[in-house]
Amino acid sequence: MAYSEKVIDHYENPRNVGGFDKNDPSIATGMVGAPACGDVMKLQLKISDDGIIEDAKFKTYGCGSAIASSSLITEWVKGKSLDEAASIKNTDIAEELALPPVKIHCSILAEDAIKAAIDDYKQKKNLA
Ligand code: FES
Ligand code: FES
Repeated sequence: MAYSEKVIDHYENPRNVGGFDKNDPSIATGMVGAPACGDVMKLQLKISDDGIIEDAKFKTYGCGSAIASSSLITEWVKGKSLDEAASIKNTDIAEELALPPVKIHCSILAEDAIKAAIDDYKQKKNLA
């Protein structure tokens, strides 16, 4: 199977790898796993008081497509409101990275990670 150039670029030069202190009230943490393969993705968002995502970091234990998907979303969510970030679809990610059908679940993991992080933030702020 051939990986697209964008996948290879994000895999070899992942953007925003790392993490923030999850106890910081401005940090949202989303941790999700893919039952299909056992891969795990952790996405953390730094959110301003007016609800804008100022920064994002990820750690992913998984395949190249999962790493590329998480690297891509850390770039996409920056500067977005929570609602805008929540509207990112796995199909947008798969299309941008030209993922083949067997790797679609890797992009779903990334979409789920965004939603999980936003849920975590709302719970922290008692907005849920
Ligand atoms: Fe998990 Fe791809 S099957 S690394
Ligand atoms: Fe499992 Fe990519 S193969 S997330």
